[in-house]
Amino acid sequence: MKVIKTGGDLQATIGQLNKSPLGFVPTMGALHEGHLSLVESAAEICPVVVVSIFVNPTQFNDKNDLRNYPRTPEKDMKLLDKVLRLNDMVFMPDVNEVYPQEDKRQFHFGNLDNVMEALHRPGHFNGVAQVVSRLFEIVNPDIAFFGQKDFQQLAVIKDLIRQTGSKISIIGNPIIREDDGLAMSSRNTLLEPDIRKNAPVIFKTISAAALMIKEKEIPEIKMYVSEKIGRVQGFEVEYFEIVDDIELIPVNSGNQFKRGRKYFGCIAVRAGKVRLIDNIEIGVT
Ligand code: PAJ
Repeated sequence: MKVIKTGGDLQATIGQLNKSPLGFVPTMGALHEGHLSLVESAAEICPVVVVSIFVNPTQFNDKNDLRNYPRTPEKDMKLLDKVLRLNDMVFMPDVNEVYPQEDKRQFHFGNLDNVMEALHRPGHFNGVAQVVSRLFEIVNPDIAFFGQKDFQQLAVIKDLIRQTGSKISIIGNPIIREDDGLAMSSRNTLLEPDIRKNAPVIFKTISAAALMIKEKEIPEIKMYVSEKIGRVQGFEVEYFEIVDDIELIPVNSGNQFKRGRKYFGCIAVRAGKVRLIDNIEIGVT
């Protein structure tokens, strides 16, 4: 694999290789198997893959979160070296490369701006849209790969593509979990030991909630989820919503489910000092 720092070098190398489709996996580093599964599926269908590592300052609404965000460049290189091939690239731009001037663009995503992460992390998706659109400009891929772990982010990116009329195909890959069910996340390394030990309660509880849909009404299921998780020391549910996978409109009663749509239970939890998100498909047929 080649490690590249500027957009100019990246485009020159891509031009020389002249192979398509070009696959792209944007990340913020501190890589784990969730990221690597995206890279592997990109490599399966793309003869050339670019993985970017860039901790994007504009998407952090909390300055402490940006400061504490794990950075493990050496380990990342070792992991990528195992899955990337000779012609694949790791793109590690510095902040001036991505933002030569301050990015003042404002994006609007309809209902996606009014639910879940958008309410709890104001400005976050605007920052994600800024960086992803800039990276798309620099890399110019044919196919980009994202994780379903960041469920709302995936919906935002698909909407960004619709709005801009971009030709890039977006592929969403399933959530990769630890053996005990905790969704892999770069922030998991920041969990204190006691909190980490109890963190599987999140996936256990939303899995139980997904089964309850057949016999219980949604307000009761929501109550169950926040009580079950809130009872564990150091854990507090920020939200648990059942939403469709396109507009992410919260459903509050079983009779609002529409045929042909998929529904997901999405959760954000304060686990000690760390904020974790997860989701699960809710079968409603
Ligand atoms: P980051 O959190 O590093 O995640 C990079 C990609 O990996 C995202 O598409 C995310 O959904 C996916 N991912 C993370 N954990 C996963 C898991 N357990 N299973 C499957 N996929 C997983 O998301 C971002 O970075 C940034 O917002 C970014 C899109 C790079 C823009 O800065």
